Amino acid sequence: MNILVTGGAGYIGSHTCVELLKAGHEVIVFDNFCNSSPESVKRVQQITGKTLSLVKGDIRNREQLESVLREFKCEAVIHFAGLKAVGESVEQPLMYYDNNVVGTVRLLEAMQATGVKTIVFSSSATVYGDPQYLPLDEAHPLSASNPYGRSKIVIEDMLRDYYRAHPDWKIALLRYFNPVGAHESGLIGEDPGGIPNNLMPFVAQVAIGRRERLNIWGGDYPTPDGTGVRDFIHVVDLARGHVAALQALDAPQCFAVNLGTGVGYSVLDVLKAYEKACGKTLPYAIAERRPGDIASCYANPAEAKRKLGWEATLGLEAMCADSWKWQQMNPNGFKA
Ligand code: UD1
Repeated sequence: MNILVTGGAGYIGSHTCVELLKAGHEVIVFDNFCNSSPESVKRVQQITGKTLSLVKGDIRNREQLESVLREFKCEAVIHFAGLKAVGESVEQPLMYYDNNVVGTVRLLEAMQATGVKTIVFSSSATVYGDPQYLPLDEAHPLSASNPYGRSKIVIEDMLRDYYRAHPDWKIALLRYFNPVGAHESGLIGEDPGGIPNNLMPFVAQVAIGRRERLNIWGGDYPTPDGTGVRDFIHVVDLARGHVAALQALDAPQCFAVNLGTGVGYSVLDVLKAYEKACGKTLPYAIAERRPGDIASCYANPAEAKRKLGWEATLGLEAMCADSWKWQQMNPNGFKA
């Protein structure tokens, strides 16, 4: 299939392009590089030995999207393009609604105009809010405590509404848990600008000596060791989930599935596993809780297995080893 991948130069997007190319699809990346680099697209081609098409453009530009969908005869869209920093979304909510929500409206309009009716959307476990029960299944009520999370819920609602009006569409909403790790080649990985917000990129920078120590946000949560528990999923497993979702969209439908492992690890578990991977002791301090954080969050991945025939296969050891390989080979990310 010819697949338009919005945000295909980003962290999850680039890993998904590798899996799509490996599965024999034609890939057209559409990205404005606001939080990514064209270098990742080169690396994807290096890994796979295949070529893909790259178009620089903004998701809010409907005309450009339309002409790209037409020119490349796209049959499906995987939609990653969006902003994802929680703190920034609190400070600049309009920017989040504009990029994430308005951008998706423009994309759907362009798809409608060109007759492309298949879309896989990057949602997030953040749509569950503070869990009422664990593990989280897809029937758990949705809620959000910040504009980023709300933008994901709004887009999910919009896609469900759109499907009700256009029942010939094929729509998959993939709710990611905590993506970490990197491609085993060490050629692509997560390249956060500035100080990383997320745990594993921060730990990686401590390991490489760019940061003095990890601050653990809270040691008094009601968890086995007092630190937060999350469902970390290897980004390559996550990428494969997208190929499986496309395959599962063989008939009109709209569904949401969790992409997680079903296993929760604590912040300290991750730190210890990373120490093993890099062979160093990593300094840390227990600090105040980060506002808005929850104690525990992990998936019930049964629906993904049933619906997509997909399940995560890579464990915490591989997540840390691959992150460390990427970090060592690219101490400054994609910058030379
Ligand atoms: C965060 C976002 C979530 C988003 C996801 C994308 C918040 C509140 N949530 O999830 O909406 O979908 O990223 O990847 O930002 N931790 C530390 N020290 C650090 C960094 C993190 O102790 O320097 C802890 C956190 O307190 C948490 C765990 O590590 O317990 C995971 O944090 P993080 O990687 O930021 O992911 P989430 O907060 O789960």
